Amino acid sequence: MDASVNTSFDLSAWTAGHALRVERALSSWVAADAPAGLGEAMRYAVLDGGKRLRPLLVLASAEAVAEGLGPAARQALDEAALRAACAVELIHAYSLVHDDMPCMENGVLRRGKPTVHVQFGEARALLAGDALQALAFELLTPESAPFSAAVQARLCRLLARAAGFEGMAGGQAIDLASVGAVLDENQLRRMHRLKTGALLRGSVLMGAACRESDGVIGSAAVTALADYGDAIGLAFQVVDDILDVTTDTSTLGKDAAADKPTYVSVLGLDRSRAYAAALHDQADAALDRSGLGISATQALRALAAMVVQRDR
Ligand code: IPE
Repeated sequence: MDASVNTSFDLSAWTAGHALRVERALSSWVAADAPAGLGEAMRYAVLDGGKRLRPLLVLASAEAVAEGLGPAARQALDEAALRAACAVELIHAYSLVHDDMPCMENGVLRRGKPTVHVQFGEARALLAGDALQALAFELLTPESAPFSAAVQARLCRLLARAAGFEGMAGGQAIDLASVGAVLDENQLRRMHRLKTGALLRGSVLMGAACRESDGVIGSAAVTALADYGDAIGLAFQVVDDILDVTTDTSTLGKDAAADKPTYVSVLGLDRSRAYAAALHDQADAALDRSGLGISATQALRALAAMVVQRDR
C-alpha cells in the first residue's frame, strides 16, 4: 500500500453510519404486509442481522468513483448506490434462506437465531427467498429515479450475473456436488470464486456502475476494482473456512460446514492464513493501480483489511 495512505480512517464510524442507512432502507422496502405471513418471514430473513459486508462494499465503491461530481450527480449516485446496496443484501439474504433448507445444507442457526425454515416452515422459507430475490430487481428499477435507465440496466445485469449460474447459484451447485469429495486447490478456488466471490466482486462493480458515465472512471479503474473484488471475494471464503475450525458456533451465529472440502482441509491452517494475507496484498495492489485517489479508496482498503482480520 502507498505510504501516504491516511491510516486515521475510522472504519467503525464509517460502517455504523452506512449500515444504519442500509438498515433503514431495507426496513422501509421489505414490506411487512405481504400476504399470508410472507412479509414477516422476509423481514425475519433480512433485517437486524449479518455484517452487511456486501452493501458496505457497494457504498464504498460508489464513494471511490464519486470524485468530481456536482451536487445533482452526487445525489443520483448516492440513491443508486443505496438501492444497489440493499438489492445485493436481498440477494444474499435469499441465498442464505435457501442454502439453509433441509434439501441443501440443513442449517438450523443463522445470524444467531433459528433459520427461516425452522421458524416459519419450509414452504414459507422458499417463498420468502423467492420474494426477496424478485424485490432486489424491483429496487434497481424504480419508476422515478434520479439515475438513468442505463445505470438501472447495468446494475441489473451485474447483479443477475453475480447471482446466477455463472456466480453464486453455480458455485452452490458445485458445493453440493462436492460433499464428501476431495477437491484440489484449483477446483476449490473455482467453487469459492463462484459461490461467494462473485457476489462480493459484483458488489464492488455495482458501486462503480452507479456513476452515470462509464467513460469518466475509465476501464482501467473498473478492471482494478474487479481485481480488488476478486481478491477480497476469495479472501473472505478462505477466512470463513479458517473461522469454521477456529471459532465456536455461538460466536459465528451459524452452523459450521459439514463434510465439505475447505481451504483448511486442502491447504492446512497455516497455509490458509498465509493465502488470506497474500489475497489482502493483492486487493491493496489493485487499488494502488486503479488510478482512484487514496482518500477515495480508503473505505475499500479498510473493508479489505476487515475481511481478512475478522473474527466472526
Ligand atoms: C455467509 O456470509 C455465507 C458465506 C458466503 C460464507 P456472511 O458471513 O457475509 O453472512 P452475514 O451476512 O454476515 O450473516
